[in-house]
Amino acid sequence: MKALESIGLAALRRVDPETAHGLALKALNAGLGPRSGPVTSDRLKTALAGLVLPNPVGLAAGFDKNATALHALARTGFGFLEVGAATPRAQEGNPRPRLYRLTQDQAAINRFGFNNEGMEAIAGRLAARPKPAVIGLNLGANKDSSDKAVDFAAVLTRCGALVDFATVNVSSPNTEKLRDLQGKAALSALLARVMDARAALKTPIPVFLKIAPDLSLAELEDIARVADASGVSGIVATNTTLARDGLHGPHKTEAGGLSGQPLFERSTRVLAQLAGMTALPIIGVGGVGSAEQAYQKIRAGAAAVQLYTALVYGGISLAGEIAHGLDGLLARDGFASVAEAVGSGRSDWT
Ligand code: FNR
Repeated sequence: MKALESIGLAALRRVDPETAHGLALKALNAGLGPRSGPVTSDRLKTALAGLVLPNPVGLAAGFDKNATALHALARTGFGFLEVGAATPRAQEGNPRPRLYRLTQDQAAINRFGFNNEGMEAIAGRLAARPKPAVIGLNLGANKDSSDKAVDFAAVLTRCGALVDFATVNVSSPNTEKLRDLQGKAALSALLARVMDARAALKTPIPVFLKIAPDLSLAELEDIARVADASGVSGIVATNTTLARDGLHGPHKTEAGGLSGQPLFERSTRVLAQLAGMTALPIIGVGGVGSAEQAYQKIRAGAAAVQLYTALVYGGISLAGEIAHGLDGLLARDGFASVAEAVGSGRSDWT
């Protein structure tokens, strides 16, 4: 981390977390972030569901909900970016405060509830996106929508031509009944609708399914079967957890989804289990805060990884640091590519 970034992070920690996040996005847009662009090497360059990534370290959804910092984020070390969640209509989300730092645990709890400016505003910004970057959109549903499947399909129809991939997010714990859409019948029907919207795009893009970490083995097996049958291109594992094991911070009892270090083990186990159930590529998310942890996710079965919460503590330059470090770890263990390492340590997690 650069000295300036370290001072900036210390200052941001003194204000409420949501305000701090807004300021961090402003600072990025003012040119205060890294400018080197995606870290890459022959070893790091990798394919994900037909997308060519300069490196497999991506920004997780929720960091840039309204796609307001695309150009600045594309200049950081990340290999790919996911923005959103976008819902058809703008919505406020839950009342503030709704984001908590658990500094002792290197974690966060949020109950935002898909606050965003809606798909029209977001599409406008995506239309002016940096072209060479790999950018995806996290699809969400409005809180008051009577048919959530229609919402996911509508956002894909509106924004699909502007992004390289889209993610169906049925795993946010902060929209009532959303997670119920992970059940076999509901998921099947939802994905059929979304895949119809995808097929109607002039150039169909890969669609990923993002799942919760709080699923039983039987539920995971059902999801794997439905995902395989639906034609989705990959699975993002995982979103935030409702579990609260082993926390120390004063905010540990706040309602919402827990992310960061305490999620690492749980989400990596889910990823490894899922990797044994489907041949679809998996994007490993949850508690990645170091190159070693990114490498562990890849060895557990992830074709690529994403992170968010660790950036709160380590700054945005962490993206490039993790990608560089990952290159070194792959080289150390004799892997010529990311793909060679995928799943090589899965048995440690199952
Ligand atoms: C998120 N996450 C998230 N995920 C998603 O699919 N759509 C979203 O809109 C959001 N919003 C969101 C807001 C905040 C404040 C946080 C902390 C997280 C979940 C995120 O993408 C990721 O799956 C989890 O946070 C786990 O990764 P980390 O944070 O432990 O690296």
